[in-house]
Amino acid sequence: MNFQLTEEQLAVKEAARDFAQNELLPGVIERDNLQKFPTEQVKMMGELGFLGMMVNPKYGGGGMDAVSYVLAMEEISKVDNSCSVIMSVNNSLVCWGLEEFGTEEQKQKYLTKLATGQMIGSFCLSEPEAGSDATSQRTTAEDKGDYYLLNGTKNWITSGGTSGIHLVIAQTDPELKHKGINAFIVETDMEGVVIGAKEDKLGIRSSDTHTIMYNDVKVPKANRIGENGFGFTFAMKVLSGGRIGIAAQALGIAAGAYELSVKYAKERTTFGKPISKHQAIAFKVADMATDIEAARLLVYRSAWLKDQHMAYDQASSMAKLFASSVAMKHTVEAVQIHGGYGFVKEYHVERLMRDAKITQIYEGTSEIQQMVISRNVFKGTLQV
Ligand code: CAA
Repeated sequence: MNFQLTEEQLAVKEAARDFAQNELLPGVIERDNLQKFPTEQVKMMGELGFLGMMVNPKYGGGGMDAVSYVLAMEEISKVDNSCSVIMSVNNSLVCWGLEEFGTEEQKQKYLTKLATGQMIGSFCLSEPEAGSDATSQRTTAEDKGDYYLLNGTKNWITSGGTSGIHLVIAQTDPELKHKGINAFIVETDMEGVVIGAKEDKLGIRSSDTHTIMYNDVKVPKANRIGENGFGFTFAMKVLSGGRIGIAAQALGIAAGAYELSVKYAKERTTFGKPISKHQAIAFKVADMATDIEAARLLVYRSAWLKDQHMAYDQASSMAKLFASSVAMKHTVEAVQIHGGYGFVKEYHVERLMRDAKITQIYEGTSEIQQMVISRNVFKGTLQV
């Protein structure tokens, strides 16, 4: 068992850290306050190769492994989780989904632009009445011969107002239940695509999350992903990988709050000594360090399993379940360590605490991860 990162992986981590500290940190509070989409920062992420990290270089990607991707996600998530969710959805859901299951024509047409950041993508599964229960899709895609007629509403769509394409999951044959579901590439300027209200969120406030309506959108047959009826399996496979990205985001949030807390505890003096010398603070920091390291092992292992082409759906659910809970618990502790300063924006930990909550909700709530894991436990198929 070798836990050592390679030179290349360490270089990616360093580059992501430099980018986050130098380019993302300076305006992150203002963007969060104003809910301002990070246009310039996303452009830079594209130029630096952070938007298509694992994509084959022949489609414009970085050709990197999933471990490098989670290292970059971790560093960027220590600072700006609006940028890291845009990055995660584009890399893990949209680029990976298209590269793994798309046709050559789809890859040439869309993946090359997504991997280089010329456009970003959205993943559209959730609906007003189909969030956790993903098989209950109400959006319909009627087969009309050489095109599908798409109708329905999707919500909580990350990058919904800024993306160039949507990967939309829709029901083609309701009688077949999940086997009648398809996935489609929908260009956002196709007639009938309506970008609805932008959500006013607790965290990740400068990413844009929208409701989207599809009203009689004619989607060419060439834009279906995979065989007829492959859409639900597509969504599940894509989400298994996506959960590694969100687990890395949660890890970064926890690690970012930890780094800020350690620095603050060394600088802040009470009762004649730095607060790091008070056991009440030192014990909290020890627990933080231990939990974060355990989360890191789960996250890196799930990425490593993906790189080895071994089963990772179980591992990614465990990583997401644990890392998101560590993020939530220890960002609350980080605010406590900072006292009153933790409650104001300037010290960053209150933002990380607000951002942490969404990692327990999107790409499958904690309860969905528990469902995935426990089903495997009771079926005797737990991958350990
Ligand atoms: N890989 C491949 N196939 C899978 C799979 C996987 N990981 N998980 C399930 N399947 C298959 C099953 O084998 C089954 O196929 P068969 O009938 O052929 O055997 C089929 O899918 C249905 O599976 P289940 O019976 O397990 O379905 P279920 O409805 O009981 O539960 C679930 C499935 C795991 C709860 C699923 O619905 C789920 O993951 N829900 C959460 C959805 C989610 O994560 N939404 C997030 C929205 S996206 C987002 O947040 C993006 C963003 O913008 C940030």
